[in-house]
Amino acid sequence: MKIAVLGSTGVIGTLTLELAEKYSVEVVALAAGRNLSKLSEQIHRFRPRYVAVQRKEDAEKLGKGVLWGREGLNALATLDEADLVVVGVSGTDGIEPTYMAARAGKRIALANKESLVSGGKVICETARKNSAFIIPVDSEHSSLFQLLLFPEQPQEIFLTASGGPFFRGRPEVIRIEDVLSHPTWRMGKKITVDSATLMNKAFEMVEARWLFNFPPERIKVLIHPQSAVHALARMRDGTLFAHMGPADMRLPIQYALFYPERKPPPSPPLHLENLGHLEFYPAPPEKYPTIDLGYRMMQEACSLAAVINGANDFAVESFLEGKLNFDRILDVIIEVSKVHRPYPLNTIDEVLEAVKEGRERAREISGVKE
Ligand SMILES: NC(=O)c1ccc[n+]([C@@H]2O[C@H](COP(=O)([O-])OP(=O)(O)OC[C@H]3O[C@@H](n4cnc5c(N)ncnc54)[C@H](OP(=O)(O)O)[C@@H]3O)[C@@H](O)[C@H]2O)c1
Repeated sequence: MKIAVLGSTGVIGTLTLELAEKYSVEVVALAAGRNLSKLSEQIHRFRPRYVAVQRKEDAEKLGKGVLWGREGLNALATLDEADLVVVGVSGTDGIEPTYMAARAGKRIALANKESLVSGGKVICETARKNSAFIIPVDSEHSSLFQLLLFPEQPQEIFLTASGGPFFRGRPEVIRIEDVLSHPTWRMGKKITVDSATLMNKAFEMVEARWLFNFPPERIKVLIHPQSAVHALARMRDGTLFAHMGPADMRLPIQYALFYPERKPPPSPPLHLENLGHLEFYPAPPEKYPTIDLGYRMMQEACSLAAVINGANDFAVESFLEGKLNFDRILDVIIEVSKVHRPYPLNTIDEVLEAVKEGRERAREISGVKE
């Protein structure tokens, strides 16, 4: 098998390459943002035929033939030589390459959730039309993908949320390092902030809605601090199936790489006797504003989710740059969602425009200068 890894220097990309090396999977392409030293090591190790980076000057530093920018990333997303494209680019920059891979009819191991949040309808319809196959990497969705292999459709599906670092209490002043220390998962900065605000779970609700074409009112969220159960499905007769695994992304990545084959455990498997106890708590939309936003994003016209995604990107970047307080992130997003009048999105350009609109509104409302 030959793969292209987009976002190779990130957490998902690095783990993908670890598995590729272990199973002698050929890496034909690597795309990264700005981490040139890590990318150079990867190039040396995997000898890909194609390389792309975010900026022209970095492409020039790396040598002849290195692609750059949107075009570079999109070219690598659609390579004929790749049997599978892994989309591990973070944030809204992952939207267009995911769409391009879907349009090219590729098999896609999709980690980037922002693409389905903003452009779920357009991307999934494009994938269907062009016989592309999307295998989710996001752990909850990998679990749901496996639970939905049953011939019978469940009545309800549940995504679990760890509750983030502040579920059991919040310090008076929340510093960037408090937010970045997630209790159970090791992830890139953006998704770690999204987990602390619980925006990540709202995004995952939308992702599930499009990936599985599941009715929004039957998608539920449960807080589960141990992150051992990743998703559940309730059948017509009330039977509840839970999908469990270690809080380690190697397993869902490996599953997406080799589906339908199962390989040996990529990391120590879960042993229930070591877990002690499992807790589950409700996450009612009236108590958790992000869960409410999740339902709104699934039920209202598609521009709402794309605009919220753009607003969230801006707010999270501003927080990580020390320009916006943690508590203001959600205030800004909710305010953006209130002033937005949702409309349908029919093309990828409209999706990208709506994301831009969200960033713009968040900038105006927050007063943060870029
Ligand atoms: N980590 C997890 O456990 C996890 C779980 C589920 C879903 N996800 C999703 O997977 C995606 C990646 O997450 P992550 O944790 O791996 O993030 P990460 O560690 O921050 O990595 C992001 C990757 O994207 C690259 N990148 C960013 N902008 C780019 C651009 N314009 N062109 C090319 N490459 C670009 C980065 O390159 P540089 O570092 O070189 O700049 C890096 O390789 C996110 O959408 C996240 O929501 C992650």
